[in-house]
Amino acid sequence: MNNKLPSLQDAKIRTQTKSLIKRDLFRLDLAASNIGVGKNCYVRTYGCQANERDSETLRGMLKQMGFQLVDDEKIADLIILNSCAIRQNAEDKVFGELGYLKQYKDINPKLIIGLCGCMAQEEAVIDTLLSKYPQVDLIFGTHNIHRLPQLLYQVMINHERAIEVYSKEGEVIEGVPTDRFSQHKAWVNIIYGCNKFCTYCIVPFTRGKERSRLIADIIEEVNDLKNKGYQEITLLGQNVNAYGKDLAYEDGFSLLLEEVAKTGINRVRFTTSHPWDFTDQTIDVMAKYDNIMPFLHLPVQSGNNEILKKMGRRYTIERYKEIYDRLKRVIPNCAFSTDIIVGFPNETDAQFQDTLNLYDYCQFDNAYTFIYSPRIGTPAARMDDNVLYKVKQERLKALNVKVNHYALLNSNTYVNKVVKVLVDGLSKKNKNIYSGYTESNKLVNFSGENLEIGMIVDVLIVEAKTWSLNGKRV
Ligand code: 5AD
Ligand code: SF4
Repeated sequence: MNNKLPSLQDAKIRTQTKSLIKRDLFRLDLAASNIGVGKNCYVRTYGCQANERDSETLRGMLKQMGFQLVDDEKIADLIILNSCAIRQNAEDKVFGELGYLKQYKDINPKLIIGLCGCMAQEEAVIDTLLSKYPQVDLIFGTHNIHRLPQLLYQVMINHERAIEVYSKEGEVIEGVPTDRFSQHKAWVNIIYGCNKFCTYCIVPFTRGKERSRLIADIIEEVNDLKNKGYQEITLLGQNVNAYGKDLAYEDGFSLLLEEVAKTGINRVRFTTSHPWDFTDQTIDVMAKYDNIMPFLHLPVQSGNNEILKKMGRRYTIERYKEIYDRLKRVIPNCAFSTDIIVGFPNETDAQFQDTLNLYDYCQFDNAYTFIYSPRIGTPAARMDDNVLYKVKQERLKALNVKVNHYALLNSNTYVNKVVKVLVDGLSKKNKNIYSGYTESNKLVNFSGENLEIGMIVDVLIVEAKTWSLNGKRV
């Protein structure tokens, strides 16, 4: 057996060496080229957009190997869980699913169960899988997705358990096949990994160092998507604003964003931004191009400078407000959302109150709010914590009251206005109702006739709810 296990110690290393762009790592050897023929495969994705995008790569490779992709795990010969490690409850879900899948394996011993994604990069997870989850046949990490054909060969033909996880800074790997979930909206990776090492976060350990794709490769992908009829692309990175630092650009993200806008594709979005690397120039580029959507997701994490310092976020609330003020001044209709963690170790009531105050200041359209979850190997997990879990839950509840309040307040401003909506599809419940998103990323359910997925239509908003708008096509 040829096993390679992860190491958090190795995953922490960051060297000054330039990232390598590799174009020939994906190989579909003749022997593996048809091992999926006549077999069904089910890929389940947990977590963020980076995982969604990785699952599209998995699907692309699986299709080339002859697998039929299915939505029902009961009829699958191969099940792959693309896992998330960001918080304990994300991991618990995956462990729960692995436990649940065991029954299928008992019925069909030939069923192959694989686990990949961020959890595979964690030592403690691998220890647990090895000792308690014999039903898992295949484990691979975030750096070697392209090795799927070789690893599946090891499991399916050589009948060996395959575990291959690299803890390294990583490369930029081009030329791996892709099977996209959507025909009108697409994710486009621009930068992989993260160098920020926020003290609570496991991502820099699981996804390696910040490494950018070349502008030429990104533009080629966007043009290709545009030619295929895609209406919207979202530029992806753990921290898109760090784009190009490794390629010696001064403000690579603003440069790239402008180049992408110039392709003329209808809608350009990007996520996720970091206030530390975020530049005023980016706001100017957003304002200059109509096809860059007026929406910014800018995680703040806490409204208190002391906590931000302990989180290793490297900006102050004053700077955050400055970005917000400038954004609203230059692009008044720009929607604004954030991520917030409550109950960071030793967070006081007064410090939490600062978060509520910041929320009142920015009046976010949306916020993803979380109770702090200790991740093994991160500095915050080693901090003492005097905050009771019950208190953390109460803080989350109080914060979410504000989140809902401002979401509705912002939604209300759309009533009686006509907005442009990209049609995503028909409502599952009502066949005369379509759904889609506004330029500012609000979900709209609306009546209309003979519309097709991927059309951009004018919709009059007649009613506002907290998390959606109702309207009719005009
Ligand atoms: N506990 C709780 N929330 C976390 N996030 C990241 N790490 C943790 C953690 N250990 C949140 C942050 C980040 C979002 C993707 O997840 O708010 O922006
Ligand atoms: Fe995690 Fe911070 Fe990197 Fe975001 S910027 S992925 S929160 S370490």
